[in-house]
Amino acid sequence: MTTVLAIDGPGGAGKGTVSKRLAESLGWHLLDSGALYRLVGIAARKRGVDFANVAQLTDIARDLDVEFRVAEAGELVRTWLEGEQIDHLLRTETAGSDASVVAAIPEVRAALLQRQRDFAVPPGLVADGRDMGTVVFPDADLKVFLTASAEERAHRRYKQLKEQGLSANLRALREELQARDRRDSERAAAPLKPAPDAWVLDTTGIGIDEVVAMIRERIAGILSSGESK
Ligand code: C5P
Repeated sequence: MTTVLAIDGPGGAGKGTVSKRLAESLGWHLLDSGALYRLVGIAARKRGVDFANVAQLTDIARDLDVEFRVAEAGELVRTWLEGEQIDHLLRTETAGSDASVVAAIPEVRAALLQRQRDFAVPPGLVADGRDMGTVVFPDADLKVFLTASAEERAHRRYKQLKEQGLSANLRALREELQARDRRDSERAAAPLKPAPDAWVLDTTGIGIDEVVAMIRERIAGILSSGESK
């Protein structure tokens, strides 16, 4: 059986970094489910599809031609959409905002469901998203809901964008994060919320290293007790 670790939470809570670090150190696979929703938005924009056109957006989600390839020079993962490398578009705020619009459409979510579940292959999977523990992997061995204050999340996002050489404005970022949180939490389809059996971890004021260590400790406990489902 594949051990699944679900990491959910709002934007800027550190899920991406924490998930990547955990997957690397455990030697497990990584599912960045947010990237799939971002890719649907990017593909829709490329084709000039109206964001109100549910049928076309669903077709895009179902037929998404995407490949995550490890760059030859190192560990860096590169994302190819329809044969084109699109990493420079993936992390922008426009892509994040478009993603949250398409992600509110139940048909789009349904079209991406099996693709996400297919990532669960041995030895294990770290699944990063909003509904990993509630919808995609309800039987996950460990569910973590990572959160942090809105202020801290906006600062982290700001730093992250700057480090990637992207332009960022703190105030605009804070507003965008809040709008996205609202859209993600209030939508009818798979709203952002902790699973009843999730461990809610508030990372405000806690460094990434410590968060990773805390989660690793829990996983070690699960693996050594043979509790893995
Ligand atoms: O995590 P990331 O910022 O890449 O996610 C972008 C958007 O995709 C989120 O704001 C959310 O609307 C959507 N998403 C989702 N379900 C997931 C992952 C992301 O609805 N499992």
